[in-house]
Amino acid sequence: MKRVLLLIFLVFIAVGFSASAAQHDEYPVASPPFSEGIFPCSNCHAGMEVNTKKRELKDEHTSIKLHHAEKERWCLDCHHASNRDKLKLADGEIINFTESYRLCGQCHGNIYRDWKAGIHGKRVGSFRGGKRTYFLCVNCHNPHDPKFKPLKPEPPPIRPEQQYGK
Ligand code: HEC
Ligand code: HEC
Ligand code: HEC
Ligand code: HEC
Repeated sequence: MKRVLLLIFLVFIAVGFSASAAQHDEYPVASPPFSEGIFPCSNCHAGMEVNTKKRELKDEHTSIKLHHAEKERWCLDCHHASNRDKLKLADGEIINFTESYRLCGQCHGNIYRDWKAGIHGKRVGSFRGGKRTYFLCVNCHNPHDPKFKPLKPEPPPIRPEQQYGK
């Protein structure tokens, strides 16, 4: 029964969104997890010369070390060269950072399908009247170094009454 309801819900969403976006599905997603102050990228990049050469960055973004099929590619395979506030798909289509899952989905098709169905990567919200939200792939995976690292063990969860001192 739960599954049937879920299915109806998904169809409902799909229909709702396909009405507004005829080309492809859009999903209500969490905000892109940018570091503070980095976006809009065009603050710096507008008017900056585009350097397409694969190199070690020395002046900025020095903490980014590509470790994601890096032999075959470079930053500008994903980031739009002349509009740095956007991402670029392999076919040249320009998309927003809120749709980065489409970028990932180009190569990780099976996971992308699972994600859309809510099997891979969880969705939050819904039951208390809030909007259902999908996490972006990049909420969990670093796009530059995505292999999941074992996390440090977390301290035990704090119960709400402890947290809020009730
Ligand atoms: C596989 C595609 C891909 C490649 C290759 C890639 N990026 Fe990214 N990058 C992304 C995505 C997707 C995001 C958005 C993350 C988010 O939503 O917060 C991002 C975010 C960023 C950000 C913002 C980071 C922050 O701290 O919030 C910077 C800066 C950046 N990329 C620079 C680079 C540079 C420089 C390279 C090359 C060395 C590169 N990217 C290669 C996909 C890519
Ligand atoms: C504070 C200024 C600043 C901001 C903000 C900034 N960048 Fe950059 N970015 C630079 C500089 C400077 C370089 C060149 C670094 C070098 O050559 O060592 C660079 C290089 C890059 C490159 C390598 C390719 C190229 O054109 O040289 C990518 C990709 C990139 N930035 C993406 C982003 C993205 C995506 C964002 C926003 C999420 C962003 N940057 C925000 C200053 C900035
Ligand atoms: C152009 C194709 C391509 C795109 C686009 C791409 N990936 Fe990948 N991804 C690969 C390949 C190839 C590997 C395996 C090689 C490696 O890990 O360097 C990989 C590895 C991974 C892994 C590690 C898998 C493991 O075995 O642990 C994750 C997680 C991942 N990608 C997530 C993402 C996310 C998230 C995005 C979008 C920001 C993305 N990928 C975009 C091709 C791609
Ligand atoms: C809520 C967090 C979360 C979200 C969102 C998420 N993932 Fe993952 N992903 C994980 C975790 C955790 C693992 C490791 C699972 C394991 O090792 O069994 C993983 C594993 C992977 C792997 C490697 C495992 C395999 O079967 O090859 C790839 C590739 C991947 N994710 C891609 C994606 C893409 C693409 C998206 C978005 C369409 C995405 N993920 C969204 C948490 C997430």
